Amino acid sequence: MSEPSPRFWPIFFELYESLPRQGPGNRDCAAKAIALCHDLPPVAAVLDLGCGVGGQTLHLAELTSGNIVAMDSHAPNIDRLRATVAKRGLAERIRPVVGDMADPGLPPASFDLVWSEGALYNIGMDNALDICRRLLRIGGYLAFTDAVWREDDPPAEVKAGFEMDYPTMGQVPAILAAIEKHGFSLIGHFALPDKAWWTDFYTPMETGINKLRSKYADDDDALAVLAQLAQEPEMHRKYSEYYAYEFFVALRKE
Ligand SMILES: C[S@@+](CC[C@H](N)C(=O)[O-])C[C@H]1O[C@@H](n2cnc3c(N)ncnc32)[C@H](O)[C@@H]1O
Repeated sequence: MSEPSPRFWPIFFELYESLPRQGPGNRDCAAKAIALCHDLPPVAAVLDLGCGVGGQTLHLAELTSGNIVAMDSHAPNIDRLRATVAKRGLAERIRPVVGDMADPGLPPASFDLVWSEGALYNIGMDNALDICRRLLRIGGYLAFTDAVWREDDPPAEVKAGFEMDYPTMGQVPAILAAIEKHGFSLIGHFALPDKAWWTDFYTPMETGINKLRSKYADDDDALAVLAQLAQEPEMHRKYSEYYAYEFFVALRKE
């Protein structure tokens, strides 16, 4: 794989930090996953790993009465979430922290619900499941989304599209097996509907790309990076039948 241009990451972050969320998902899907977490305590201790700018953290604050620690390793995301939390008067309930979920520095068995949308894969699914299990009390829930192939042999173009970000992406049965292997019982799983890709993610992304195209109209290197970033929603238009984002909800049993 060729090295990305030195302009890639600054422009990537300029775009992604401006979005309402940094991956597919929406409030309805969060509500559907929460509904699978039976008998959460009234004031649940919730951890949102890889929270981004907090799109789903704010949904969690609406959908539960819990107290939420929201962790991301990218400090500008946490700065933006802190500002949102202050503006919405949620500082008593949401604590945004810069941290590495591979070494979260949080006490074991201290959460009723660990949540993570589109982020666990960054530290390897087996490692992530092990860390999440230790953070949860026995009987606590893990709810997470992960990108999965729907087909054994997707077209080369779509495979190449995931090569940089998620080369080890697998299929649902492998994740179900990993969930069981790491001491969880599966409660349920479902694929995100197409709306959850577009409304809060790809539509704002395409609007953001067009704004940046105007900003960088005379900058060919920046325009080339923007063309590269625009390939992701375009790929979804063409190839969404080959991959999905799956929500998994599981209970720590031991
Ligand atoms: C695809 S984004 C999803 C963000 C958010 N959950 C959402 O759905 O909008 C993945 C997030 O994981 C964060 N991340 C990646 N590796 C991390 C790590 N080791 N610890 C904490 N956060 C991490 C990234 O900074 C990014 O914000």
